[in-house]
Amino acid sequence: MNLESILFTQGFGSRRQCRALIADARVSIGGVACTDADADFPTGDTAFFFSVDGVDWPYREHAYLLLNKPAGYECSRDPQHHLSVFSLLPPQFAERGVQCVGRLDQDTTGLLLLSDDGKFVHLFTSPKRKVPKVYIATTRHPLDDAQLSALRDGVLLHGEPKPIAAVDAAARGANTLALTVMEGKYHQVKRMIAAAGNRCEALHRERIGGLALPETLAPGAWQWLDETDLGSLRSG
Ligand code: URA
Repeated sequence: MNLESILFTQGFGSRRQCRALIADARVSIGGVACTDADADFPTGDTAFFFSVDGVDWPYREHAYLLLNKPAGYECSRDPQHHLSVFSLLPPQFAERGVQCVGRLDQDTTGLLLLSDDGKFVHLFTSPKRKVPKVYIATTRHPLDDAQLSALRDGVLLHGEPKPIAAVDAAARGANTLALTVMEGKYHQVKRMIAAAGNRCEALHRERIGGLALPETLAPGAWQWLDETDLGSLRSG
């Protein structure tokens, strides 16, 4: 693939802007500036890296990312009341069409997937496809067995035709609950906890499928997902 197309597909602006970056010697391959926009490079099977203004970038046909979402960020490029999660990412990702794979509320923290692969986004957001998601909720009132049983047996949420049951609901402390759900309905976990007779004060997503939020990833930090991560995601 030629260098102009590499930059263009990776979100470095219009073709004209990419050509200008190259002509200005701001793009290097293997540590050497390349000013030829038509120079061809193998982006196929091996990991191909280029750098722009000294920052290294891998070439990826599609971007698969994981963000440790902090509270106070909306999963939208056009946020209404808070900052956008996209403000935590390099602008190249929004430019190449990366979107959130499902949404977390602005005050929910933890594992958020993002991608520009439409099939992948559809697969993980389609109501037909059941993917277990593990949430840790802090509740206002101490949890009791009746609430945990109600969550496991199913609670009726406003507007839903039948009760929704958690795959698992286990206390992790007097006011802490680990809840596994398959669906991704609007405010689902908060509404389920309310329907069970308690109130959710804080919510954190810990896992999607077999993929856990890495403990070493600080709030607000992101990382690329590799093939192993994508396999874990599907294996859950
Ligand atoms: N359920 C909720 O209530 N909020 C979230 O952000 C995610 C799941």
